[in-house]
Amino acid sequence: MQIIIFGAPGVGKGTQAKILASKLNLAHISTGDILREAIKNETELGLKAKEIVQSGGLVPDEIVGGIVKETLQQEKCKNGFILDGFPRTLPQAEILTRILSELNNEKLYLIKLEADDDVIVSRLSNRLVCSKCGYIINKDALKDNAKCPSCGAENSFVKRKDDEEEVIKNRLKVYHETTEPVFEYYQDKAEIIEVDGTKSIEEVSRAILDKLNSN
Ligand code: AP5
Repeated sequence: MQIIIFGAPGVGKGTQAKILASKLNLAHISTGDILREAIKNETELGLKAKEIVQSGGLVPDEIVGGIVKETLQQEKCKNGFILDGFPRTLPQAEILTRILSELNNEKLYLIKLEADDDVIVSRLSNRLVCSKCGYIINKDALKDNAKCPSCGAENSFVKRKDDEEEVIKNRLKVYHETTEPVFEYYQDKAEIIEVDGTKSIEEVSRAILDKLNSN
């Protein structure tokens, strides 16, 4: 199965991609996670991407396209994959079409999660991430000195640099101007599944799985 999970920043793409990858035994490829890891490790890619990612802009298409091409050729993707955060521009969508035509001709699904900007701003302003293992938690759910429920680290929760209010606004602007039009490109290239992203995490997963099973 080949899936693109699509939608605004903070709509729940990463959350749902992790659940689906585990339930359907697919590789989860998040270009955002790959870039953040490169920034943390100060690799050549990380040094190029740092300022762009932290201000909410888009890393050049050929860089991200190259990362995705290389990743999709790996053994872990043989059973199928979920792309999270890619494609984000029309040139990236064209790059993906070329990569997939060289790989195989399997059916492609595009899952679009939907939520208004005010829901997004509230979610992202309250998101904290464990600096040790990447576990995501809502600020309100975190007690003083709480240990990370995933890796047990203490006082490890931090805000992502791009979750500051001004950067969130810029990410939403970039999404509406540049990424949203990519949805149109897939109307005749993928099976489209649209899901209300404002329901609970469990309800969103159930809606996605029901729709995937009925297609
Ligand atoms: P990326 O990491 O892809 O960020 P994003 O698209 O902005 O998405 P997020 O990770 O912020 O949110 P999400 O939709 O995954 O939501 P989440 O599940 O965490 O990209 C970051 C940056 O990297 C980009 O800005 C760009 O600079 C660069 N980049 C990446 N890909 C690129 C590309 N292809 N081209 C160029 N540049 C690229 O959920 C958010 C919060 O809401 C969490 O706290 C979660 O717990 C909560 N939540 C989730 N679902 C629900 C729910 N149903 N109900 C209540 N709360 C929920």
